Amino acid sequence: MHTLQAIQSLNDALSGPRQRGQRIALVPTMGNLHAGHLALVQHARERADVVVASLFVNPLQFSPGEDLDAYPRTFADDQAALESAGCDMLFAPRTSTLYPNGLSTPTQVHVPDVSEGLCGGSRPGHFDGVATVVSMLFHLVAPTLACFGEKDYQQLAVIRKMAADLHMPIKIEGVPIVRAEDGLALSSRNGYLSTEERARAPALYRTLRAMREQLMHGESHTDVLEQGHRTLQEAGFTPDYLALRDTHLNPVTTRTRKAVLLAAAGLGPARLIDNLTLELPAY
Ligand code: PAF
Repeated sequence: MHTLQAIQSLNDALSGPRQRGQRIALVPTMGNLHAGHLALVQHARERADVVVASLFVNPLQFSPGEDLDAYPRTFADDQAALESAGCDMLFAPRTSTLYPNGLSTPTQVHVPDVSEGLCGGSRPGHFDGVATVVSMLFHLVAPTLACFGEKDYQQLAVIRKMAADLHMPIKIEGVPIVRAEDGLALSSRNGYLSTEERARAPALYRTLRAMREQLMHGESHTDVLEQGHRTLQEAGFTPDYLALRDTHLNPVTTRTRKAVLLAAAGLGPARLIDNLTLELPAY
């Protein structure tokens, strides 16, 4: 696996595959890789000739006071994990490479509607930062396809809309959530949990599953959401939101059949997110 820091080195490494018309897959990451990221690499490996992962902790998607400085950086381990997962190239640019004019007034990509509310409501500017850096990576790598985890459901929706609206010729692939044996969705931020918090964390997934059961049996959406909120509080979480949306993140109507339950909740120092898709009954 080649590790590349500079844009010119990336272009040099990609010129052969581009000339040969090979399929290039991009797996964007912020590092501190776990089995969820490696599932993205595997998904990419099965669909492309060349797999490029990127590793960049993007300051633009962190608000002041968030965990930018504390975000775990484990470069050597990440490099080794990507290499054994069959990744061909790792693009790990410096901040000054992607933002040569600094971070105060960079050109930004804003994806309206879908980036508002939910995580976008609690983390103002977060999805502008994500869309901006992903758009840069799409321009630099020019992949045939790009893989993102379904755990970040709203992020995936933002990227799909950006790629469609800006006519980016890139297939966006969502890859199912990878969970620990006890159901907790894998996330780099799980590492912030104490042993005691880690033992409580699967209650987020359990609550979503219980809510899904109730909704599939036709129980009132408001009652289910209120009860879910209480259950999370009793389990020691500070719920940020619990929401039921259609799969495009619009509010559900009586005609909605395919829906998604989304949750974000604080547990100790960590903000955990999770989601579950479900089929709503016809009335
Ligand atoms: O999901 C992430 O790790 C990041 O938001 C992404 C897509 C790599 C952009 O920085």
